[in-house]
Amino acid sequence: MANKKQDKHLEGIEQATKDMLFGQSTANGGRYAYLNGGGAKFNEFIRNNENYPSFWKEGEILSEHGQAMATEMRDVEHAVIVGPGSAFAEKEFHVIKHLPNLKKVTFIDIAEKFNQAARQTMTDMKAELAAKNVSVTAITGPFQDIDKKVTDRWAKDYKKNLVMCVGSLITNIEKLAKDSYPETETQSALRDIFRLAANDGYAIIGYNALEKQSTLQKAYANAYLAEFMLNAWHFMLLNSPDIRIEDINGNPLDKNDRAVINDLFAYEMDDPKFDPQTRNYAHIIKAKKSFRVYAKDDSVQDGSFEEICKDIEAGFSFTMINSYQASTSIVNTQVNNLSKTSKFYEAKEMLARGKENIYLHSFRITPKAPAQP
Ligand SMILES: C[S@@+](CC[C@H](N)C(=O)[O-])C[C@H]1O[C@@H](n2cnc3c(N)ncnc32)[C@H](O)[C@@H]1O
Repeated sequence: MANKKQDKHLEGIEQATKDMLFGQSTANGGRYAYLNGGGAKFNEFIRNNENYPSFWKEGEILSEHGQAMATEMRDVEHAVIVGPGSAFAEKEFHVIKHLPNLKKVTFIDIAEKFNQAARQTMTDMKAELAAKNVSVTAITGPFQDIDKKVTDRWAKDYKKNLVMCVGSLITNIEKLAKDSYPETETQSALRDIFRLAANDGYAIIGYNALEKQSTLQKAYANAYLAEFMLNAWHFMLLNSPDIRIEDINGNPLDKNDRAVINDLFAYEMDDPKFDPQTRNYAHIIKAKKSFRVYAKDDSVQDGSFEEICKDIEAGFSFTMINSYQASTSIVNTQVNNLSKTSKFYEAKEMLARGKENIYLHSFRITPKAPAQP
């Protein structure tokens, strides 16, 4: 029987797969990429690539400044870690461990394994915590879906909340921008993150602001990342029962077989892919051979099953995931806009700590006085 919890994580997967093959305006492979063992593959990538600055430089900034950050935010009682991934011990923990008044840590990740690993770090490193009675909990699911009841409870229970979202999660925006950086989407991601500070506390966001093609190429044109992307693409096809593939002679190909996927597709490593206009480094998958794809025709209204079909030429490509490169000024502009438009809080920059264009940007979030009738 289908597993309900797993099913929720797979919502929209067949549509996303179809969009990628039949023409797309989004790159939503990121939602599924950490499932199906993808988390372990991402972990291999970050640790085996000395040129991936988001892991190494963020880790350095947090280990060097974690204590200072905790001092700036010493009144925090509750920390919410969004998307801890496999790097919590090397990243956010450097701040968490020094918070003297910490009572609770909540992890939020779409991959349960990452939540478990982060909880384990809290147990293993208990002796290093400045605050002695810290309880730990985890929510498996997207941070965008956290219920207001939950944040209302945090607002009641804790004097100050800290939300941390590092590793450039806020810049994996799904919209494929055509002309300029997708500011609306960044603002919306920031709004979803800031909401978790329950109107009173702090936020720390970690992101890249890399603009040099060669630096980005070194970070991303990597065999471990290729394996992460192809594993994710295979998983998307596996979970798309109404999509089928034939070779150019009309022979069915088994898309569930990873060897078939490897034969048909490759993660693009050779062409430069950073677009300075949109500031996007697009992670592209390319067809190595021509083939034919069939999918369910959703325009048929009478409930019968009809198919649409497309011939895919060798060289056809689509975007799996976007890595937008933000900047401190883009983020500041969006945060100032949020402050103006929010009824509940004001967010003010505290400090942007940077190393080689990787930033840990911190903000203070204070409640707005309720509007007078
Ligand atoms: C780019 S990685 C960053 C991981 C880690 N913080 C680091 O710095 O290495 C993204 C992480 O966020 C998780 N994730 C992706 N989308 C998410 C979402 N909408 N809500 C919560 N977690 C998400 C993934 O499972 C993964 O652990």
